[in-house]
Amino acid sequence: MKKTILTGLRPTGNLHLGHYFGAGKNYLKMQNDYDFYLEIADVQALTDNFNNPEKVRKNVTEITIDLLSIGLDPKKVNFFIQSKIPEIAELTVFYSNLVTVARLERNPTVKTEIAQKKELFGNKGESITYGFLGYPVSQAADITAFDGEVVPVGEDQLPLLEQCREIVRKFNSIYGTTLKEPSAILSEVKRVKGLDGNDKMGKSLGNAIFLNDNEETIKKKIMGAVTDPNKIKKDDPANPDICMVYYYHNLVNKKENIEKICTECKKGSRGCVQCKKELVEAMNNFLKPIKEKRKYYEENPEIVKEILEKGTKKAKEKAEAQMKEVKKAMKIDY
Ligand code: TRP
Repeated sequence: MKKTILTGLRPTGNLHLGHYFGAGKNYLKMQNDYDFYLEIADVQALTDNFNNPEKVRKNVTEITIDLLSIGLDPKKVNFFIQSKIPEIAELTVFYSNLVTVARLERNPTVKTEIAQKKELFGNKGESITYGFLGYPVSQAADITAFDGEVVPVGEDQLPLLEQCREIVRKFNSIYGTTLKEPSAILSEVKRVKGLDGNDKMGKSLGNAIFLNDNEETIKKKIMGAVTDPNKIKKDDPANPDICMVYYYHNLVNKKENIEKICTECKKGSRGCVQCKKELVEAMNNFLKPIKEKRKYYEENPEIVKEILEKGTKKAKEKAEAQMKEVKKAMKIDY
């Protein structure tokens, strides 16, 4: 019996290289070995974007196409839409009794996000909604509704997983052992740096290369990427370890090219402009098969729709079965 994997993504924008190397590549390996449920977390996206439903709606399709374009196989992965599984919402209500408000406020991920919101919108603590504070509870429902045993996530999500495990233990101790405690799998590449040298590539940071960026955009972005600031002239020797161009060469170029680039850069026999042009080419080659798949799905929207419907149907069956067990344990199986 294969173990069950559950992971989720908020449909709030297209995927970028950070998502690919930090998560997607991992999914590609895992799809062969697990019973894989991939949630398009539209309800969770609405906790932040409740006043912008069009954005969430549009990105449900966009993100599904992104995930298919990187090579996830819909025969192996059940893609499903969170809002189509009401059992998750139901479980969220039940779990909300098992977690204190203070504990949610102490959750490091939530805490960071609240601090970021305050920075953005001023000190309007009261603007934090009940839904936002509670999203870790809903994420615990996401995972346990499908009996998720393994959850591939980024480091920033570990506190949410810990919160889920606490809820599971509390549930089992009160109502009898019903739920499984999930464990996290972190990817080898924890995060991908941004074009500006920031430790994290992020959409809101404006330093990302998206999987569906066109060639012109990619050229513009790479030409503006941060290099060794001490290299002024074309033939100054430089330090590739602090250069974003070299950093991305490492992700998308061939091994033999990378070694050559490194030596030449250190020697001062390679100019940054040339190096960037080569990266543009390597990046385009890397993204080419992804974009070809994207084009296929964009031209065949009914196939994308069908993939989501099929995955959602399977997810719904699994969640219904789990819900029966939960209600039995809670003595609400009337
Ligand atoms: N919170 C996750 C993120 O922002 C997305 C998510 C929703 C998720 N439900 C999940 C991740 C369940 C893992 C498991 O990236």
